[in-house]
Amino acid sequence: MSIYVEAVLVLGILGGVLSALLALAGRRLANYGPCAVTINDRKPVVVEGGGKLLETLYDQRIFIPSACGGQGTCGYCKVEVVSGGRTVLPTEIPFLNENEIQRGIRLACQVKIKQDIQIKVEESLLSIKEFRAHVSRTRQLTHDTRELEIKLVEPATMQFTPGQYVQVLVPGKGERIFRAYSISSPPAIDSTIELVVRLIPGGVGSTYLHRVEVGDEITLTGPYGDFELDEDKKTELICVGGGCGIAPMHSIIRHLEKTQSRKPCTLFLGAATAKDIMYQEEFEALKKRMPHFDVHYALSDLDASPEWQGDRGHIHELVQKLVQDKPGRQAFLCGPPVMIEAVSRVLHAKGFTKDRIFYDEF
Ligand SMILES: Cc1cc2nc3c(=O)[nH]c(=O)nc-3n(C[C@H](O)[C@H](O)[C@H](O)COP(=O)(O)OP(=O)(O)OC[C@H]3O[C@@H](n4cnc5c(N)ncnc54)[C@H](O)[C@@H]3O)c2cc1C
Ligand code: FES
Repeated sequence: MSIYVEAVLVLGILGGVLSALLALAGRRLANYGPCAVTINDRKPVVVEGGGKLLETLYDQRIFIPSACGGQGTCGYCKVEVVSGGRTVLPTEIPFLNENEIQRGIRLACQVKIKQDIQIKVEESLLSIKEFRAHVSRTRQLTHDTRELEIKLVEPATMQFTPGQYVQVLVPGKGERIFRAYSISSPPAIDSTIELVVRLIPGGVGSTYLHRVEVGDEITLTGPYGDFELDEDKKTELICVGGGCGIAPMHSIIRHLEKTQSRKPCTLFLGAATAKDIMYQEEFEALKKRMPHFDVHYALSDLDASPEWQGDRGHIHELVQKLVQDKPGRQAFLCGPPVMIEAVSRVLHAKGFTKDRIFYDEF
């Protein structure tokens, strides 16, 4: 054996030993041992250290909002860490203001349990449940969007308000993956819920929900969200949906129909092309049955759908043109962040205060 080959062999063995030692050290260092987790004024639970707070809460049947599935990109999973949370991580900073940092607010998906920890979770979140369910019906709404009807099994019913959403568990190994989907059916139907899911190429959650078939089991948690419909019949509603943002608007409008509400409601729907518009026939039929309801569409792709006779442009331009400046109204917006930003700007200029605008962006 040449001296060169020997040197390569020795270096290879040394490299192997070193990486084994590093892996062992990593495992030992990451071994935080048993840690006591105290949630509100409950009895502490002891868990093996090293896990994420979000996962630990789930194991304790506490289903806090986590719309991005723990990726640290939605900022929904806020809890108050009273002690034991260590320092705020750079990944949390974009979602926390100075006041929240002072109060110990943290993103549960970013906090690792490394010592005894005491946290406070809002009482309202403790009523969120996990549901076993199965797919009871599917329907293709457009070329890339599917409607799913989901039959709740255990618990068998869900109480929600129009505009709220659920989080669907995407089956798989490793960390639990959840994705948020707005409920598109009205609360009067409480034993099934409907979802409208647009397929994102390569997307984990949307691909799963485009593949499930009737009879397949689904696990979800909910309901989440702070859409709060003012039931006063004089309060006029402005609903604006872009793309799949139609889902919560569909729930609100079907709720108005079911409750025979006389509330004035105007729906603005933005879509890229005519073939992306959802529920058009249904809304046109509702318009005839509900004298206080009106709907307007705008296509953002100016060159597509040459047969289209209606408005073109961005939906906020139509809102700007048609919404009158008068008090006592509520607005519900759902769609991509740029749409929410543009429509909110228009509505603020028309006298809507922040507390009268509810939105979910995705
Ligand atoms: C409150 C709330 C309600 C929601 N309601 C609905 C709903 O009713 N219907 C619905 O279809 N979705 C809804 N969403 C979005 C949904 O939760 C998922 O984010 C979406 O389905 C994509 O998830 P995925 O797992 O398929 O893609 P991921 O695996 O998360 O992403 C795959 C890739 O696609 C990119 N990507 C993710 N989203 C988009 C997008 N919208 N456009 C282009 N690229 C994207 C990602 O950056 C990534 O590169 C809602 C989100 C929130 C926060
Ligand atoms: S930031 Fe989305 S779950 Fe934590």
